[in-house]
Amino acid sequence: VRTAAGRLPLSGRHVLVTSGPTHEPIDPVRYIANRSSGKQGHAIAAAAQTLGARVTLVTGPVDLPDPEGVTVQHVETAREMLAAVEAALPADVAVFAAAVADWRAATEAEHKIKKGKGASPPALALVENPDILSTVARRSRQRPQLVIGFAAETDKVVENAETKRKSKAVDWILANDVSEGSGVFGGDRNRVHLVTAQGVEDWPEMSKTDLAAALLGRAARYLAQAKG
Ligand code: CTP
Ligand code: CA
Repeated sequence: VRTAAGRLPLSGRHVLVTSGPTHEPIDPVRYIANRSSGKQGHAIAAAAQTLGARVTLVTGPVDLPDPEGVTVQHVETAREMLAAVEAALPADVAVFAAAVADWRAATEAEHKIKKGKGASPPALALVENPDILSTVARRSRQRPQLVIGFAAETDKVVENAETKRKSKAVDWILANDVSEGSGVFGGDRNRVHLVTAQGVEDWPEMSKTDLAAALLGRAARYLAQAKG
C-alpha cells in the first residue's frame, strides 16, 4: 500500500475517529445508552494507523481492546466526547462513527432514585446532547479537510442520509440500514451507501474491517488529489 515515493498513503496525516456508544447518567447507578459495539469505529482507527496516519480515537464505553499504535481517549458522555474531540484538533480527516446518545437526563440525581411505596414511576426529563459531528463540520477554524459521518436509518436510508449530509455540512456520509435484522449493531459485517456531493455509491456488504480499509484508502486518495 505504499505510494510511489515509498511512503504510506496517510503518513504525516492526523486522523480523528469517534467510536462506541455514550453513557448518559440518570443517577449514580443508571444511565441511558444504545446498542453500539464500537467495532466499526475501532476498525476505522486501526485501518488509519495501518495506512500510516497518526490516529486519535475518542471512544465511549466498549468491550474492545484499544487498537495498537493509536492514541485512545476514553469518555462516557456526549459532552465529554465533544470536549475530547475538540482538544484533539487539528486533524486532516475526522470520522464520526460513535452512536452518540441524542438525549441526556435533564438533571443527574446525586443519590440513587428510590421507588417509594405506592409512588408512581418518576418522570425522566430529557435534553438534547450537542451534535459532535456538526459542531466540528461547521467550525470556521481547524475544520478537518475531510469530515465523514454515519447515518443510522431504518427508513428511506439514502434519502435521509443525504439530508443529514447537507444539514450537518458533512463531506461524506456512510448510510447504514439499522432496521431489525440488518445485524449492524454488534455484528461483524456492514453494508453502507457512500453519500457525497458527487452522488451515491452502493457498497457491497463486507466485514467492518474491510469497510474500514476501503474507506481510509478512499480518504487517502481524496487528500492526495486535493490541493495542499
Ligand atoms: N452524531 C454526533 N453527535 C450527536 C449525534 C450524532 O456526532 N449528538 C453523529 C454520529 O456519530 C453520526 C452522525 O452524527 O456520524 C449521524 O448520527 P445519527 O444518529 O444517524 O443522526 P442524528 O443526527 O442523531 O439524527 P437521528 O438520530 O434523529 O436520525
Ligand atoms: Ca442519533
